[in-house]
Amino acid sequence: MSPVTERNTPPRTAPPSDASARKAVISCRRPTIDDAIRIWEIARDSRVLDLNSSYAYLLWCRDFHDTCVVAELYGQVVGFVTGFVRPTEPDTLFVWQVAVDESARGHGVAASMLGNLMDHLAHQGISRLETTISPDNAASIALFTALARNRYTTITKRELFTPSHFPDSHEAEELYVIGDESTQGAQR
Ligand SMILES: CC(C)(COP(=O)(O)OP(=O)(O)OC[C@H]1O[C@@H](n2cnc3c(N)ncnc32)[C@H](O)[C@@H]1OP(=O)(O)O)[C@@H](O)C(=O)NCCC(=O)NCCS
Repeated sequence: MSPVTERNTPPRTAPPSDASARKAVISCRRPTIDDAIRIWEIARDSRVLDLNSSYAYLLWCRDFHDTCVVAELYGQVVGFVTGFVRPTEPDTLFVWQVAVDESARGHGVAASMLGNLMDHLAHQGISRLETTISPDNAASIALFTALARNRYTTITKRELFTPSHFPDSHEAEELYVIGDESTQGAQR
């Protein structure tokens, strides 16, 4: 599949800020192991994500918390992002899972979490984000397209994991790269 790239440029005027009122009540922070149960519940209830073991989410909160985020709305954890820095590309965050509790969707929670995470990691020289998305996940595609637009950068899509890579009936997972492609060349 040939890569598809969209380039975003900054607007001439400041964007309207009606979203800032909603964002005021969304607070983002790094998870602790005490968040792992809630993260597992949100993943389970999404009915879209591959649900990993509760133990896996504990390890994620313990060892990868710096590249993860949870969002609280009115003091309740309503969303999470799990990610890691790619070992072969230290300027690239790979986002593994993103989910927002159904009751809190459509209020910018996922966008806030991803923006928070990229801002948090920028001081470590991490400027690019990768994720994979199934072709039929319109919400996720819209989310990452909006992220690229909001950060005035590119979004590129290409084939990564095809159904033949999975032992079960898993859909394809296409790779989306937000930010300029690595000068080291794209690694699988
Ligand atoms: C995808 C998901 C995380 C979005 O969370 P959210 O907090 O509702 O998203 P936001 O409100 O921050 O929206 C961010 C952008 O995505 C768009 N978007 C969100 N849900 C959408 C949907 N169902 N259809 C189309 N666009 C959608 C928003 O319009 C916004 O784009 P915009 O700025 O251009 O308007 C949420 O729907 C979810 O948890 N889905 C189930 C799990 C999943 O599919 N995760 C992604 C794969 S790992």
